[in-house]
Amino acid sequence: MKAELERIIKEALKRIERAQTLQEIERIRLDLLGRKGRLTQLLRGLKDLPVAIRPEVGSAANRAKAQIEAALKGRTESLPPPQERKEDLDITLPGRKPWEGSLHPLTLTLQRIIEIFYGMGFELAEGPEVETDYYNFEALNMPPDHPARDMQDTYYLGKDLLLRTQTSPVQIRVMERSKPPVRIIAPGRVYRHEAINARSFTVFYQFEGLYVDQGVTFGQLKGVLTGFIEEFFGKGIPLRFRPSFFPFTEPSAEVDIRCVICGGKGCSVCKQRGWLEILGAGMVDPAVFQAVGYDPEKFSGYAFGLGIDRIAMLKWGIDDIRLFYENDIRFLSQF
Ligand code: PHE
Repeated sequence: MKAELERIIKEALKRIERAQTLQEIERIRLDLLGRKGRLTQLLRGLKDLPVAIRPEVGSAANRAKAQIEAALKGRTESLPPPQERKEDLDITLPGRKPWEGSLHPLTLTLQRIIEIFYGMGFELAEGPEVETDYYNFEALNMPPDHPARDMQDTYYLGKDLLLRTQTSPVQIRVMERSKPPVRIIAPGRVYRHEAINARSFTVFYQFEGLYVDQGVTFGQLKGVLTGFIEEFFGKGIPLRFRPSFFPFTEPSAEVDIRCVICGGKGCSVCKQRGWLEILGAGMVDPAVFQAVGYDPEKFSGYAFGLGIDRIAMLKWGIDDIRLFYENDIRFLSQF
């Protein structure tokens, strides 16, 4: 055993002498003094030796351990600390910058929308995301068996409670608590029970616009929407109003813009049509005025609803709505 000890010491000192890096020294330490190291095992075997020679071998082994530890320490100190070695230090490299946060693209889009409508005299309004059937449908001229309910597959939370499928219920809430003139936009989250794919997600953002006063006309609606679209997408972008149907507006229209991806030539985003639908609008239906106690003979108004995700995607050429909700830092840090 003594011979073995001497061999270990000799080998160890030689290896330590030759070691060039801290990693090598660490490896030597582990080989000898680690949990499964040679010296550790040898010390562990002492208890099986005859009692007569145990103390002697024991103290020799402990001396060997101390000697090796001292040699390891000495060699470590004689090596230059790694960061001072010239080849590792490039003082011309730029420093590491702390990570900077940025606003979510949907937030940026919303801020821009609010800015534009503030400029046109609109105020901000809000409503709850958990709505009653009455506000989300009934007061908007959609009684229980109305076929238009099928257009918005709904998450029900109970018999009368649901996750709102549109921001239009905010129209009702605002009109119930105020008298004309009313001029608001109401942005917020809406929910639809839809198959998830690149173009639709079960949650997304809309904003609603509503203006009610005496003598409000469809011409004013066209003016405001054209103004908004030109501010948001840039002047001169071709757009068109198409007749459409919504239970809570009459007449109703949808607005298309010339496809911003292909410029109208036809591509997969516009489904070869050259046009992209971006919003629904119309003159507030008299039945809605009646539900909130406004006199439809005295007042008229327009309303519009627009997908925030949708216009954000078009503005930046984002082809998958799911990117907004995955919070992948590689996507988000581009904005
Ligand atoms: N709420 C309608 C939708 O989600 C959009 C809309 C709003 C249409 C206001 C007309 C007036 O499809």
